[in-house]
Amino acid sequence: MTNDMQFGFSDLRCPTPIIQAPMAGVQASALAIAVSNAGAIGSLPCAMLNKEQLVSELKLLNSHAKGLWNVNFFVHKPPTPDAARELDWRNTLAPYYRAFGQDPPPAGGSSREPFSHAIADVVQTFKPPIVSFHFGLPAPDLLQRVRSWGSKVIASATTIEEGLWLQEQGVDAVIAQGLEAGGHRGMFLSDDLSTQLGLIALLPQLVKTLQVPVIAAGGISDANAVRSVLTLGACMAQVGSAYLLAHEATTSTVHRLALQSPAARHTALTNLFTGRPARGIMNRLMKELGPISELAPAFPLATAGMMGLRTFAEQQGNGDFSPLWAGQNGCLAKAGSAAEITAGLAQGALSGQPRQLG
Ligand SMILES: Cc1cc2nc3c(=O)[nH]c(=O)nc-3n(C[C@H](O)[C@H](O)[C@H](O)COP(=O)(O)O)c2cc1C
Repeated sequence: MTNDMQFGFSDLRCPTPIIQAPMAGVQASALAIAVSNAGAIGSLPCAMLNKEQLVSELKLLNSHAKGLWNVNFFVHKPPTPDAARELDWRNTLAPYYRAFGQDPPPAGGSSREPFSHAIADVVQTFKPPIVSFHFGLPAPDLLQRVRSWGSKVIASATTIEEGLWLQEQGVDAVIAQGLEAGGHRGMFLSDDLSTQLGLIALLPQLVKTLQVPVIAAGGISDANAVRSVLTLGACMAQVGSAYLLAHEATTSTVHRLALQSPAARHTALTNLFTGRPARGIMNRLMKELGPISELAPAFPLATAGMMGLRTFAEQQGNGDFSPLWAGQNGCLAKAGSAAEITAGLAQGALSGQPRQLG
């Protein structure tokens, strides 16, 4: 097998079949740049960046990434504020705050903005090779703007219906996000968790049903898993949790310690930290309130109420109130440089058969 094998979708070509998953809250451009320079696709999560941060991160990526890179946005519908529900949430969290000698914070406040024309004004200057979306796609005029400056568009699907919908809107590739995946479920056509498929079911069904290339995500933690998803028809593997212990990631100390402890073997979907289901390592709050609770305000309004608790607990060295996002194979993550992690993941692909490009 040669090292000049190429992977990709549309007319993008990459020497390895790896996309480092965008991971809001645990990384910035440093990880994306290191991955891009290691021959994979590095991703910048932008959902939690303000305009100044976005400009500065894009400048860094644009000037330092030698390979392909991707910028990622959330496209959730902003929630209708519900004062009664937010008060209930505040009251639910109040005893935990009191245990730290504090009052719960006032309700409200959003930490995540959906992609918009104002954000597109900033991104347009940099013309990223790839733009990816989570929770669906932006409105057609906004999507058209992104395509008009030449970026390839990819987005997560968690069901066959979502894959078909994304294909209809003209995406360049669909990311099959299996139920094993860490972080937020990208689900957007239904909020029924019983519709969610594991990757070994979702991937072949999407490959069979769709005409566009399919990228596999969820539980991919080593070279064998990469080779397996390529065998099942994926054009590339999008890998998140395996990068959580990368030197270039900003993963917190409590999160790193949890990942390296037996606790990481038990993950669950929870809506407590943001209002939308996301997979994280089971912790005290998830055990005591949920992990899924109707009390949590709609995404992303649940976040503000949790911030103080998280800070107080982390100051005492525990992750009882932290979103410890990780996939079901997050327990297999190894510490190392992004280049070492990427090389380890890509090794499996390079010893497999050449893939047909999408
Ligand atoms: C800590 C963390 C944060 C994440 N944040 C995002 C995000 O901002 N945008 C996004 O599209 N996906 C996000 N995801 C989901 C990933 O895109 C991907 O689906 C997932 O990491 C794949 O599963 P794995 O973690 O088992 O590799 C996140 C995942 C993790 C673990």
